[in-house]
Amino acid sequence: MCGIVGYVGHRDCSDVLVSALTRLEYRGYDSAGIAVFEDDKIKVAKTQGRLADLSAKMREEGKPHGHVGIGHTRWATHGKPSDINSHPHTGGNVTVVHNGIIENYIELKEMLKRKNVEFCSDTDTEVVAQLLNLYYKGDPLETISKVEDMVTGSFALGIIFADHPDTVYALRRESPLIIGVGKDETFIASDVPAILQYTKKYYLINHNEIAKLSFDGVEFYDRYMNPITKELQEADWDMDAAEKGGFPHFMIKEINEQPESIKRTILPRIYNGMPDLSECGITAEALRNFKNIHIVACGTAMHAGMVGKYVIEKLAKVPVNVDIASEFKYREPLIGEGDLVIIISQSGETADSKSAMLLAKKLGAKTLAIVNAKGSSIAREADMLIYTHAGPEIAVASTKAYMVQLSVMYLFAFELALAKGKITESECAKYITDLQEVPEKVAETLSHVVDECQHAGSTLITADSLLYIGRGLDYALSMEGSLKLKEISYIHSESYAAGELKHGTISLITEGMPVIAVATQNALLEKMISNVKEVKSRGAYVILVCDEECVVGADIADDIIKIPKISEILMPMLAVVPLQLIAYYTALAKGNDVDKPRNLAKSVTVE
Ligand code: AGP
Repeated sequence: MCGIVGYVGHRDCSDVLVSALTRLEYRGYDSAGIAVFEDDKIKVAKTQGRLADLSAKMREEGKPHGHVGIGHTRWATHGKPSDINSHPHTGGNVTVVHNGIIENYIELKEMLKRKNVEFCSDTDTEVVAQLLNLYYKGDPLETISKVEDMVTGSFALGIIFADHPDTVYALRRESPLIIGVGKDETFIASDVPAILQYTKKYYLINHNEIAKLSFDGVEFYDRYMNPITKELQEADWDMDAAEKGGFPHFMIKEINEQPESIKRTILPRIYNGMPDLSECGITAEALRNFKNIHIVACGTAMHAGMVGKYVIEKLAKVPVNVDIASEFKYREPLIGEGDLVIIISQSGETADSKSAMLLAKKLGAKTLAIVNAKGSSIAREADMLIYTHAGPEIAVASTKAYMVQLSVMYLFAFELALAKGKITESECAKYITDLQEVPEKVAETLSHVVDECQHAGSTLITADSLLYIGRGLDYALSMEGSLKLKEISYIHSESYAAGELKHGTISLITEGMPVIAVATQNALLEKMISNVKEVKSRGAYVILVCDEECVVGADIADDIIKIPKISEILMPMLAVVPLQLIAYYTALAKGNDVDKPRNLAKSVTVE
């Protein structure tokens, strides 16, 4: 989704804006632009394409020189990617950059047209610029406050007024925005990595709040223009965490960071060898009283919830529904008091997940957010919160965030099962001991399977389509494997419950079609092997992922990827590693942009 930045300070503003936008590239974008005050006049440079195209354009046409400005990377929603539709957008005195959607822009545009305002782009953003300009009588704050009342939707805006060349304004409703503070300089940004090269200090800005950045510092106002004070935050990770650190891509770096991410996430939640989630306000008594559990999330986070469902139901015997957040809201879910709704989100800003959470609260359920991004909207608005400690995840394809989401799912399931009296203390202690072994086993897996996954990647590049199959936890996991492959290699794939193949899908199998079979669950192994034989005998090229102790004939599959063995219930945390690597090496072999796959954005802040 779009990224916005802004700067007031002593450095060269164009350089700061472009550099900060580079750190937001992971969000996905198709055009870029900046607006900078040069000799008290606003100078705009913008283009369709990447930041490198913007820099090339500025080399050719001249870079704006100044110390105050705003910048943007656009992920098209209203109007195709083009130079004209790129931000910043100007209406008379006012220039803006915008992330989000102005829902009532058509109605506002009609009203403005009736007042003879002319538009040059197809964007909803230009409407905001024109609206601000229409009502501007010399007081920026008053104008922003008035326009804020008129627009509906979600947005984060960076705004400059032609006659206030030393000031940047920012306004936030729903879409993410932070205000960075360095020595004699201030920043606005959609996310912390944008400012980390300059400062680790920042303010969180709430819905409908306005920030005014000038050479005197930053001031905050509520929607009625009352000044407000805020607590300064400090990022607990630095530039290294947001850089590639010698790896060719963020994705492979993040895959390799998984052992450390798991440790950071689980160790503070283990006390005397037992799970301890009391920091998030969960008590054993509250856990005992929950009747139903609903897990609501999108994409990879939803897949972590699928594994969570299997584990919670198996150990705690509590029914769990897993819902796709974008469906949840519109199907009148049967939830209410006594239910727990768990929202899982890496970014904490996913619009669908956020609105599902708000609906759950409205219906009387308790909400628990499992979130990676500190201070994000979902983290702030949930009743209870567990932070995952993956550190910044930059690659669009989520890997380490999934791993730590799984870690929390296990901790939660263990604690719930214990509270419900479904497992004994010694059983719980054993699960925790096993969980503590996972980081080392993930590291071992990483060091053992690279060659096989690279080979699998080179085999898959010619495939048009493939299947992932598994049973039980392996099925839940294979959904994530399939999504990973699809999103970065652009090869169609589906994950299927292996037992369901015979009910239709097996008709797709033709000579050479790849099938990735995950078989880590002993009790289901025999059945899985039968399914593998069924597809193999119809010509499938089978890649089998199983544990090192699994005894199968060498001819059962074309390739066998063996992973270390650990307590069976925890096997998804190891088995996901080869699936992530297969996706990575396939995308790499195809020459795709691994970290920034086409059409995708890291943080999906619109519904
Ligand atoms: C995963 O690789 C995807 N990028 C995507 O499915 C993602 O998990 C989903 O959009 C949810 O994002 P969130 O965790 O930030 O809410």
